[in-house]
Amino acid sequence: MDHPTQVQLLKALLTMIEQRQTSMADAIFLLPVESYTSFDQQRREQQHLFDSRPLMLGLGSQLACPGDYLTDDLSGVPVLVVRDNNGSLNAFINVCRHRGARLMDGSGNIAGAMTCPYHGWAYDLDGRLQRLNPPGSFDGLSCAERNLTRLSVMEQHGLIWLHPKPGGQIDEAEILGCLANEIRDFGFEHYSHYETRHLRRRFNWKVVIDTFLENWHFSTLHRQTVLPIFLPGINHFEGCGPHLRLVMPRRSIIEMFEQPEEQWDLLRHSAIIYVLFPNTLLVWQGDHLEVWRAFPAGPGCVDQCLIEVSLHVPTAPTSAKERAHWDKNMTLLMETVDGEDFRIARQLHKGYVSHAQQNLTFGRNEPALHHFHRAIQASIDGQ
Ligand code: FES
Ligand SMILES: [Fe+2]
Repeated sequence: MDHPTQVQLLKALLTMIEQRQTSMADAIFLLPVESYTSFDQQRREQQHLFDSRPLMLGLGSQLACPGDYLTDDLSGVPVLVVRDNNGSLNAFINVCRHRGARLMDGSGNIAGAMTCPYHGWAYDLDGRLQRLNPPGSFDGLSCAERNLTRLSVMEQHGLIWLHPKPGGQIDEAEILGCLANEIRDFGFEHYSHYETRHLRRRFNWKVVIDTFLENWHFSTLHRQTVLPIFLPGINHFEGCGPHLRLVMPRRSIIEMFEQPEEQWDLLRHSAIIYVLFPNTLLVWQGDHLEVWRAFPAGPGCVDQCLIEVSLHVPTAPTSAKERAHWDKNMTLLMETVDGEDFRIARQLHKGYVSHAQQNLTFGRNEPALHHFHRAIQASIDGQ
């Protein structure tokens, strides 16, 4: 995000702080509870959001060197992404073309070929089958007919995007839309991956995104954790196509306003939350980046989700003191989100199916929630 944009947002925040206001929608928004409980809704979300559009996979810096690879099954399709010897990323369905065994596990570096653990067929970093083994057993077939099945993959401003369907296309201009330039300015391609955790939790995947889309619950739910750091109930919201940006000011922003405008620094004195539609959150935390990705736990799983959270830092830590700093950030993050937000979230599904009400009510002070759920609905309705 460039400095003029930071100053523009800071001026808007200063007015909000002085007038004790926050970004407001024009009217309240009622969301049918069915959005979280309906199997038909979940089927359409899987079809329109997870099976047929590019999803963010992670940061390109996680695959810094030729041969670095990672695997991912969260969207339901087992995928394998590997950096080739020219520095480009290749993506494949992580399935051997002999009899369908899973080819690679986890992440790491491939020294030679990618070798199937079942009968040993080997593929190069471009997914080409090296030979048909054993000789004479596959007469009439050529290696080229059994290369790995390719998926479209693209690296943009340090983020990896992957289309989970063979033949699916990624439109570079559409991935980040109007957020592209400000995300480019963060320079995430130079970041260092610190830690990733995977969680399986008993609530709808959209609740993970909802959790981050307002901060007026800090005063009640997060009194002991992040309330001392942030100004609750004040945030600046802006939609960008189906994506959105939400800025939450830290308390330290007040002292910054006493400095000359040239020294104003939004990045240091706020949390900036981007929803990269449909299921990814980039959470800029002043000096590092959290990436959250949320998925339904499987077909028909309206009440269970898979969550991945990763911490990315500007430079790889080189001392125990630096590691302790990032560990402390991870601990606070898990205490706050998993310990406090998700404690509430775990009770939500029971409430949804209790017939207490047909709709949830999003207030005018929760515009990011309006935007996210409208974008979901528009997408699954094919608009
Ligand atoms: S399934 Fe991979 S070599 Fe047989
Ligand atoms: Fe929270």
